[in-house]
Amino acid sequence: MPAIVVLGAQWGDEGKGKATDLLGSRVDYVVKFNGGNNAGHTVVIGAEKYALHLLPSGILTAGVVPVIGNGVVIDLSVLFHEIDGLEERGIDTSRLLVSANAHVIASYHRTLDKVTERFLGSRKIGTTGRGIGPTYADKMSRVGIRIQDLFDEKILRQKVEGALEQKNHLLVKVYNRRAITVDEVVEELLAHTERLHPYVADTTLLLGEALERDEVVLLEGGQATLLDVDHGTYPFVTSSSATAGGACTGAGIPPRSITRVIGIAKAYITRVGEGPFPTELFDEDGEQLRQVGHEFGTTTGRPRRCGWYDVPIARYAGRVNGITDLVLTKLDVLSGWERIPVCVAYDVDGERVTELPMTQTGFHHAKPVYEYLPGWTEDISGARTLADLPVQAREYVDFLEQRSGVRISAIGVGPERDQTVVIHDLLT
Ligand code: GDP
Ligand code: IMO
Ligand code: MG
Repeated sequence: MPAIVVLGAQWGDEGKGKATDLLGSRVDYVVKFNGGNNAGHTVVIGAEKYALHLLPSGILTAGVVPVIGNGVVIDLSVLFHEIDGLEERGIDTSRLLVSANAHVIASYHRTLDKVTERFLGSRKIGTTGRGIGPTYADKMSRVGIRIQDLFDEKILRQKVEGALEQKNHLLVKVYNRRAITVDEVVEELLAHTERLHPYVADTTLLLGEALERDEVVLLEGGQATLLDVDHGTYPFVTSSSATAGGACTGAGIPPRSITRVIGIAKAYITRVGEGPFPTELFDEDGEQLRQVGHEFGTTTGRPRRCGWYDVPIARYAGRVNGITDLVLTKLDVLSGWERIPVCVAYDVDGERVTELPMTQTGFHHAKPVYEYLPGWTEDISGARTLADLPVQAREYVDFLEQRSGVRISAIGVGPERDQTVVIHDLLT
């Protein structure tokens, strides 16, 4: 029963989309198990570049069944906009399956996301403004709208009424916004039902049957370990479970079916939005990483905050997720540095620690302790085997592997499918 998880080991944008695409042709299902259109995955195939938000990256591979799992929150207009965009470019999206249990993002979720951020002021999270947090909050408060509710107008109306009851008080009395009517929400959601219908399925049942047949199910995480609502840098996180455990609940598959957990980590580190980031660079080094690595958000276009590789974070991600293989991406971006700092520990209020501090205050106080590795000047984007890499690049990878405590099975040397050095096969 081979289920394989691909997830982010840092703060997102590690190159999960490319990794999933790389494995695409060898798997049967690709399941997005958490998040929504806060994600942004850029996949480059030859001269074509695709930016995916809500659709699983497997949508680009012929023969694969892409699945939006129950753990995802769906903005229906974004879903169809993305489907139309791919269809126009000749990608067949008809195999897509959408869980009947996935929750729906409505206009009031987007509104609430934006107004609460504004209200928080300097304490804001820096969300993508897509309504993700409010939709998951409704799910947990048991006033969410699910995909299946769209097919029973009476039920839908009741649920929307229930959802709006408190929200309209909040919108009008606290946020000074206009009240939202039940009719406008019902109309907004029903506009998509006819088109949605053929995609909706009992995805947990189908995935369970696929695993019974020994088909390969790849579970694709959005966001990343440090953005996980339980295990990330709370409250500066997203509102879903982006770690390996979330793959089980978000797809409805048993833990024992997971045979491999592939963590994706950049050879340095980036973060979008607010929150602590020990190795963040505020100088021209950070700007150089941003420019060379094209570190601007796929979803919001925001400049990504950049810093050096952080070993305690890698060890933490390895432990929380049970990562069996690490894919180290964007090594090519590090060509041209005389020496490369790697954070091997933190100084927390005068004490040296090698694990993530237990408390958020501790993490806010963490200052990086660096070791410096010799850099290389060669362009490595053409490397396809370890032997093609300059000795300093190999030593850098060895150092990260040894300190992170997880074996590195592949190295990204460019955005394209084939710009990868595979050390250990990721599937067999
Ligand atoms: P995701 O959200 O984890 O899927 O990552 P994003 O797509 O948001 O960001 C990763 C970016 O890096 C994308 O633009 C990819 O095309 C690009 N990329 C992925 N792997 C590599 C690599 O090894 N080298 C370089 N230079 N770019 C890469
Ligand atoms: P991928 O899948 C990077 C960040 C936002 C913000 C926080 C909460 O492309 O790696 P949200 O809108 O989710 O409530 O925002 O999480 N964030 C991401 N950062 N990559 C992502 O996705 C992200 N999805 C959300 O910037 O700090
Ligand atoms: Mg991204």
